[in-house]
Amino acid sequence: MNKFRYIDLFSGIGGFHQAMSHLGGECVLASEIDESAIKTYMKNYGIDSKHDINDIQNEEIPEHDVLCAGFPCQAFSKAGKQMGFDDPTKGTLFFQIARILRAKKPKYIVLENVRNLMSHDHHNTWNVIAKVLDEVGYNVKPIIMSPHQLGVPQLRERVYILGIRKDIYSGELEFTIPDKRDKTVLNAYEAGIFDRVVDEKYNISEQEEKVLECWDEFYQGIDLKVIGFPVWSSEFGATYPLDEYPGWKADFCRKNRKLYLDNQAFIDKWLKKWNHLSGFTPTNRKFEWQAGTSISSVWDGYIQFRPSGIRVKRPDAFPALVAMVQIPVIGKYRRRLTPREAARLQSFPDTFIPDENDFQAYKQFGNAVNVNCVEFLAKQLFAYGEKNVNENRTEA
Ligand SMILES: C[S@@+](CC[C@H](N)C(=O)[O-])C[C@H]1O[C@@H](n2cnc3c(N)ncnc32)[C@H](O)[C@@H]1O
Repeated sequence: MNKFRYIDLFSGIGGFHQAMSHLGGECVLASEIDESAIKTYMKNYGIDSKHDINDIQNEEIPEHDVLCAGFPCQAFSKAGKQMGFDDPTKGTLFFQIARILRAKKPKYIVLENVRNLMSHDHHNTWNVIAKVLDEVGYNVKPIIMSPHQLGVPQLRERVYILGIRKDIYSGELEFTIPDKRDKTVLNAYEAGIFDRVVDEKYNISEQEEKVLECWDEFYQGIDLKVIGFPVWSSEFGATYPLDEYPGWKADFCRKNRKLYLDNQAFIDKWLKKWNHLSGFTPTNRKFEWQAGTSISSVWDGYIQFRPSGIRVKRPDAFPALVAMVQIPVIGKYRRRLTPREAARLQSFPDTFIPDENDFQAYKQFGNAVNVNCVEFLAKQLFAYGEKNVNENRTEA
């Protein structure tokens, strides 16, 4: 498509906006209710997105070619479906999308959601969405895809729902996407994601450094390199009965006790050196190694300080940014990811101005849609419309 108009629903900080602008689109309406995201949107695009979608009347919506929406996933009422006369999506935000599609009939739709949407509520949610989009007149294809397939070092599987009005194209929609098993080449260190010099405030604290040093020593010292269970240091040497615990928990305890017995000489020395981890918070006394054999030190991985313990992940693709509270630590640099780096993982350009408040910025990037994924799929979707136009021209 050359020039086209689009609307950006649940617009956040404009992941769709970025992608659509690259493809030649003009945003004619954005809708958002989160005050911080609204400010960021205004700062970057000069558009006031402050509109609750529930309050926008059909007459207020400008004509547009593309409807974009990264909508919240909500279960649909089964009662409505069983009664057979009510719109089963009523009361959900998807209902607003369906309403706008009915009224405005744009040529294309580009929706995004968590992957779980497809299996949510025993597939009822997806079945209802597919049925409604079909009834409203769209030929639709869901595609599950992650930015790592495009060489962006983030593992973030999402479902993209691509649709074209049936009168434009009603054949099979097919999208070419790179193989999703190929996770090998992605290394954020080499992909230009990280800055070499950042503000000191992103450095981990002395205590955090000490905790990670301690667990690194632990990992180096034990005989197990792929630890398939969470390490709970409180179980080292413990002998109390496990009958009261649910099966999974008793199983983890047993594995920890065995790990201790297999490595007793080393672990006793380690515990003594680190004063039985007595200065650590309970969550820092737990450790999860999720890096297989791809690295051999905590400091080579990505680290998350989670409520369930310290988690180390492999460095070849960043774990999905989610609206996060625990900002991931880049082991090699002994610091947290910066908002600018979070922006890059979401394929936002360096010209993008993040929220001044870091907490809000991380949350907004975590909520956003990956720009490259949208652009990659939307381009292929729009080509179906173009093809059709060209074919009609030839026939005439
Ligand atoms: C998953 S996020 C979408 C982020 C967006 N795609 C981006 O790239 O930044 C969903 C957004 O829907 C917004 N939202 C929720 N209810 C809404 C409503 N009634 N009207 C407009 N936006 C709403 C939330 O505030 C949230 O920012």
